Amino acid sequence: MNILLLGWTVVTAVPFLSTVFRYASPPKRKGPVTAAVATTGDIPPHTGKTVSLGNRPVLLITTPEGQQRAFLANCTHLGCVVRYREEENDIFCACHNSVFDIEGNNISGPAPRPLPQLPIEIDNDNIIVTVS
Ligand code: FES
Repeated sequence: MNILLLGWTVVTAVPFLSTVFRYASPPKRKGPVTAAVATTGDIPPHTGKTVSLGNRPVLLITTPEGQQRAFLANCTHLGCVVRYREEENDIFCACHNSVFDIEGNNISGPAPRPLPQLPIEIDNDNIIVTVS
């Protein structure tokens, strides 16, 4: 009887513990992801656009001078997705009103660090971004 009880315990505990372990451990990132995420025509000067790359939000902006930049779009405060504000020419997090300049530097609000800037490459009008 004890052997049956032990066998039943093992048979039911292994799938349960496996599920708990998979839920509790963070998913592994599979290394850098590089892709064409937009064209230069999609983001005229003085505008921005949020895209997804490797399941992460990426903010693309074109400065008023026509330079393209890419940032990881998670606010460095608590991770909300930031957006470009054309009127102010800055990057804004609506969750707790953090403001970043177009270099990604945190200039007001609770965000403790700049936004991570991402490598960007322009190839035949395609904007190619890499997320680590
Ligand atoms: S999450 Fe952006 S300011 Fe709090």
